[in-house]
Amino acid sequence: MKRKTYRIAVIPGDGIGPEVIEAALEVLEATGVNFSFQHCEAGDGCFAKHGAALPEETLKHALESDAVLFGAAGDTAADVILRLRRELNTFVNLRPVWALPDVPCLYPKTKLVIVRENTECLYRGIESEITPGVVTATRVITQKASECIARFAFEYAQANEFHKVTAVHKANVLKKSDGLFLSSVRAVAKNFPKIIYDEALVDAVAMHLVMQPERFQVIVTTNLFGDILSDLAAGLIGGLGLCPSANLGEHHALFEPVHGTAPDIAGENIANPTAAILCGAMMLRHLGEMASAQQIESALEETIAMGQTTPDLRGTLSTMKMAQTVIEQMKAR
Ligand code: NAI
Ligand code: MG
Repeated sequence: MKRKTYRIAVIPGDGIGPEVIEAALEVLEATGVNFSFQHCEAGDGCFAKHGAALPEETLKHALESDAVLFGAAGDTAADVILRLRRELNTFVNLRPVWALPDVPCLYPKTKLVIVRENTECLYRGIESEITPGVVTATRVITQKASECIARFAFEYAQANEFHKVTAVHKANVLKKSDGLFLSSVRAVAKNFPKIIYDEALVDAVAMHLVMQPERFQVIVTTNLFGDILSDLAAGLIGGLGLCPSANLGEHHALFEPVHGTAPDIAGENIANPTAAILCGAMMLRHLGEMASAQQIESALEETIAMGQTTPDLRGTLSTMKMAQTVIEQMKAR
């Protein structure tokens, strides 16, 4: 039987985006899975060149693809990634925070998942100037989106052998908006009696994550809190170079590292490609190519165990050299 060819829209973006995406593409090619990669422009460079941060052509390819692989965008991030998430209606942002073996880090046993609502909250970008010197930002929380994200979190916990879901909020201050978020999550929790459900205030969670991350398994939260907590959690397991994410909806999926364009190291070819490579593995799982996903993950773990890493993990390799080492490990198996 002829194997399917997957249409992947590739949007490298700015800064280290193109560096880590190129590395991830080489690793994906090495699996032998058939891909048709459609390279698309978006981001700061694209805006400077064409006057649009997210050209219609790119959006069209994203909508027509089996999956999107995205790097990062700089100052135009809101115009690019927030719009893509909205247009593709990927209401879930799934952020696994799993310490890889042999990575020098604060908490080598961390294994948690942040399920971040991906379409509303302050990220709707509704801001107004009331009068010079006074601006407002509107935080949108709906019952529908809150129930959707809660259902995803509980189903994910159930399917992946997690026993606990924690709703993270600030309902003591944001009484109406996080009040609605919490009542929505509670209603969904009732349908999953085998899963322990608890709730915690976001500020306390920030401390507990640093001191006792093992308290958490699946965290479900609103858009802004999920964004902040996922960078914090990345710090527990060795940094942003290691954290992939999946934006998932009913009809579309977009995979992107949690990190941004890293202007402090862009152009030096030293960005850690692990997050982008793990995005490739998440994408393969989403496409049903489990064995290839596993092949990448195992080879990556082997590569890190051998100390063949970029400088953020105390190694000396370049981005591409680390990716090539992963490919050598895939072939050695
Ligand atoms: P950042 O995530 O780009 O970098 C934060 C720190 O982590 C930097 O010190 C960077 O060197 C390090 N880092 C990130 N990725 C790394 C990797 N793969 N390997 C080694 N070290 C890595 O966040 P920052 O600096 O706050 O933002 C830079 C730009 O990225 C901003 O313009 C922001 O708007 C944009 N951004 C875009 C995102 C997206 O497109 N989804 C997400 C986050 C930020
Ligand atoms: Mg972020």
